[in-house]
Amino acid sequence: MNNSIKNWKPGSWINFKAKQQPSYPDKERLDEALLRLSRLPPLVSSWEIESLKSHLSIAQKGEAFILQGGDCAETFSECNSENIVQKLKILLQMSLVLSSGLKKPVIRIGRLAGQYAKPRSSDEETIDGVSLPSYRGDLINRIGFTKQDRVPDPELLIKAYNTSAMTLNFVRSLIDGGFADLHHPENWDLSLFNKSPMAKQYQNLVDSVSNSMNFFESITGNALSTQRADIYTSHEGLHLPYEQAQTRFLEHRNSWYNLTTHFPWIGMRTADLDGAHVEYYRGISNPMGIKIGTGCSDDHLISLVEKLNPANEMGRMVLITRFGASEIDDHLPRVIKAMEKIKANILWICDPMHGNTESTKEGYKTRRFDNVVSEIKSAFSIHKKLGSYLGGVHLELTGENVTECIGGASGLTELDLSKAYKTQVDPRLNYEQAMEVAILIADHIKKN
Ligand code: PEP
Ligand code: CO
Repeated sequence: MNNSIKNWKPGSWINFKAKQQPSYPDKERLDEALLRLSRLPPLVSSWEIESLKSHLSIAQKGEAFILQGGDCAETFSECNSENIVQKLKILLQMSLVLSSGLKKPVIRIGRLAGQYAKPRSSDEETIDGVSLPSYRGDLINRIGFTKQDRVPDPELLIKAYNTSAMTLNFVRSLIDGGFADLHHPENWDLSLFNKSPMAKQYQNLVDSVSNSMNFFESITGNALSTQRADIYTSHEGLHLPYEQAQTRFLEHRNSWYNLTTHFPWIGMRTADLDGAHVEYYRGISNPMGIKIGTGCSDDHLISLVEKLNPANEMGRMVLITRFGASEIDDHLPRVIKAMEKIKANILWICDPMHGNTESTKEGYKTRRFDNVVSEIKSAFSIHKKLGSYLGGVHLELTGENVTECIGGASGLTELDLSKAYKTQVDPRLNYEQAMEVAILIADHIKKN
């Protein structure tokens, strides 16, 4: 990808239809905020982005696995030490379980430090007969149900950038300070649910990794450093003016990069071939995801991939499939075959969350743990059967003890949902459920 991409500029998307964009009442304030954003230093560097790309191309060959996870929507108010620590902890602990089961390195990508914009199925939300514009994420408007709260505010763009920077700063300092080091047992224990039978299985694993490490250290006399555990960031690159403001041309690479995140993805609702999002993404050099649902035809997918990755570069194109447990058998084989037909270099990731959302009688949006696990297992077996490779999972999860998804070892039921239902948008796996998914994947791979 380079400077000569035909008829492309960071702002050329403006000539195409942009779905899911807010309408700002004060255009001048918007332009002023975007100008400020464009002058601020980038959140990530092209070195990190290229390093992720090379990890993704290794995963594409079946030699590594991607764990992408985090909140459906991050919020400014939840940007605090405890939440960030818990998120990091769950990603690290899951990756330890996965890499021991899969016998492969696991690359961690957070839905983190920028996941502030949400596509909505309806432009309006109605409560007790009152209709207001929908909440579109903290990047755009506010969750409160007043007219004032729902007006898109350009100042939130700057606040989102600042909050992303604070999150990333803390993540980097934790990692650099040795948070992921197995010599720090406090970061590896499962204090939240140490009575569960799963905790014993997990503890045995941590002990065995730690024993092998101690053994190695005692015979070599050298301390083994397990300090570095990279965490990459990702978010849905939905709000095009925001993404554009941090899109820079880097002379030394002769390429354009979106420097708000390592790995932006195109959501299912904005992947139109002639839409503004695809136009924007075709010009940046970041690796990128596309969410693929049941409505995506083979022809559409082929055209998308040819447009977004014309050079068939390794490590660039990630297809995140989200069909649902009951539909995956009908759709995943056809899309794998479509990509084989054009010999596209694809990294396949399974998102077992977004095709499995349902609502309870009381109106809670939830997901059944069994459906989540079933979609993942189906994805593994379909890929295997077709000679392709499932290179990762994409999960909505939190390190907190919330009650948003039903099922799992502790048997959460519909009646439990009201106890700690905190998400602003989609239901997340809680700490215990997320660990259980990792353990079940590891077990499944060992047995198959
Ligand atoms: C999401 O990832 O939160 C999301 C909205 O996904 P999708 O575009 O797959 O519906
Ligand atoms: Co979601």
